[in-house]
Amino acid sequence: MKSIKDIERTMDFHGEALDNIFETYRLMRENCPVGRSEKYGGFWFLSKSEDIFKVEQDADTYSVKPTMLVPPVADFPMIPIDTDLPELMDYRRILLPLFTPQALAKMEKPVRDIAQDLAREFADSGTTDATAGFARALPTIFFSRLAGFPEKDWPKFDAWVDDILYERTLDPERAKKAQDAVMAYFDDLIEKYRGRTIDEADTGTIMDYLLEAKIKGEPLSRQELLSYCYLMFLGGLDTTAWAIRASLWHLAQDLDAQRKLRENPDLIPMAAEEILRTLSPVQAMGRTCKKDTVIRGQEIKAGDRVVLLFGAGNRDPDIYDEPEKIKIDREDNRHLAFGAGHHRCLGSNLGRRELVIGLEEFLKVVPEFTLGDPSEKWYGVGRLTLNFKK
Ligand code: HEM
Repeated sequence: MKSIKDIERTMDFHGEALDNIFETYRLMRENCPVGRSEKYGGFWFLSKSEDIFKVEQDADTYSVKPTMLVPPVADFPMIPIDTDLPELMDYRRILLPLFTPQALAKMEKPVRDIAQDLAREFADSGTTDATAGFARALPTIFFSRLAGFPEKDWPKFDAWVDDILYERTLDPERAKKAQDAVMAYFDDLIEKYRGRTIDEADTGTIMDYLLEAKIKGEPLSRQELLSYCYLMFLGGLDTTAWAIRASLWHLAQDLDAQRKLRENPDLIPMAAEEILRTLSPVQAMGRTCKKDTVIRGQEIKAGDRVVLLFGAGNRDPDIYDEPEKIKIDREDNRHLAFGAGHHRCLGSNLGRRELVIGLEEFLKVVPEFTLGDPSEKWYGVGRLTLNFKK
């Protein structure tokens, strides 16, 4: 059996490390809440909710440079996620009109229509993989429309996302190839979009907003445009798919909860928050310490990397009653799944609505389902086999 010191030293939050991650988090919270891992060039990690909230909000001490992602998912800084204040706000402002309550209200019907069609198709077709048939398809179709990515290109996206996000720890060369392919794809798309103006009647696509944007009177450079598109592509597709898949994975095993949500769909938004808390699509993000500091007595030096384990903070017993339990009607559920500082997820309300509407429509259309293959994991966006009576 591994000692606590060994668990600390080899702390990881990708791939198979996720098989046992909640137990690892518990041990770390209890024994070394400010731990030191040797993975990915070495980093400190924080597992207590309070510490993570503090670092998220302390831009004087922590930077997101060179990148928030550990290990990196690009060999260039991504916009806006790898940008510090004050430039960060210039970049965030560009897309804010897309996420106002009015803009989001307009998105409800298209998201619901797509979810309904996919759920019907899934229930009728006799296929059993709810990831490809539903959890991934819903955000891919909706987000790609919002972003302005042509429909004929959607089939390519899943493989690119998989290679960049999930292969990067196993096969970095493959991840790099996918990164280059995505950048070449956006390079082409940006050219096609240039010169278009945002239709008055429409809200415009993400591509339109990025191309029209000006910062201090200047349009975004080609590299800025590419970098923003790349981040939106990764952020908009994978996270929401993970959240929908994780919700179905859980409900397939907790039939009481599944029945309760069918009988009382008003509980679905609360259930969605609880899944985001307990099975968070983004388990961790990194920062770099800008000046020497101390957390819980541990000295952290300028230049050290610090990883915020959102997944661990989200199960901190100091914050949540029975933290390991997935309670679909949990109240006061303030979690870290979208971050908590000035980098808080820009698409959080859209991601939430896609998750809630997706679950509502799935439960309306697909009869009671159970897990078809118990070896399928809670994490990632791999296959999810569901059994149900037709
Ligand atoms: C359930 C779905 C989602 C989850 C769990 C999620 C989670 C996150 C997290 C944890 C961060 C980093 C926050 C931090 O370190 O403080 C983030 C940032 C971001 N997310 Fe999301 N996200 C989701 C959906 C989306 C969607 C649908 C979009 C786009 C439409 C999006 C766009 C972004 C952007 C642009 C950032 C960077 C914000 C910044 O650096 O200022 N996300 N997200």
